[in-house]
Amino acid sequence: RPVPVIAIDGPSASGKGTVAERVAAALGWKVLDSGSLYRIVALAATRAGVALDDEAGVAAIAASLPARFEDGKVLLGGDDISTDIRSEACSVGASKVAVLPAVREALLGRQRDYRVAPGLVGDGRDMGSVIFPDAQIKIFLTATAEARAGRRYKQLMEKGLPANMQSLLDDLRERDARDAARPVAPLVKLPDAVLLDTTELDVEGAVAFVLDLVRDRG
Ligand code: C5P
Repeated sequence: RPVPVIAIDGPSASGKGTVAERVAAALGWKVLDSGSLYRIVALAATRAGVALDDEAGVAAIAASLPARFEDGKVLLGGDDISTDIRSEACSVGASKVAVLPAVREALLGRQRDYRVAPGLVGDGRDMGSVIFPDAQIKIFLTATAEARAGRRYKQLMEKGLPANMQSLLDDLRERDARDAARPVAPLVKLPDAVLLDTTELDVEGAVAFVLDLVRDRG
């Protein structure tokens, strides 16, 4: 019996990350924040002076990704980049490197390696379509752009990072369009994915919904 996977895909700032973490904690499973990999690649490329549309150059960085995850922190070389990769600039950079097929290919095996017993919750855009197409549970987690921009605004303020509501909304829409329109691994709601709209639902409600699905299908 294959190691169980819950694939949670959806647009930016839909709350996927928080829901994935809480569900994983409740089940005692591992969690894959796949967006962080694209963020790290974008940051590492920028620091190395590699243009974000230089496919071969960025793919080489993705393949050798010198990043480590330790105590909830992301380290690149000796640097703690946990906060840097959450900036808006890095969000936009991540969605640019994510359109490059060679970059996605370079990150494929690394993502599949997260699938270890007793189970994995994967969060991203292509968890159910490309990385874990045989996932036992697939969820498309979404919310209106306004609700998502509002949440991102709150998150940034809490972290003491600069935030502007209108530019957040503009950035979200631009990233959503790029994620949905790209030819390789676009963000789509798969026919076998369950729709979870969190516009009017809090984190606790979303987590309970996912755990109920696990119980029903287990
Ligand atoms: O989920 P997060 O907002 O951290 O992802 C940042 C960017 O990385 C997304 O806008 C998307 O372009 C890209 N991404 C992706 N595939 C994934 C996860 C993230 O293309 N599985």
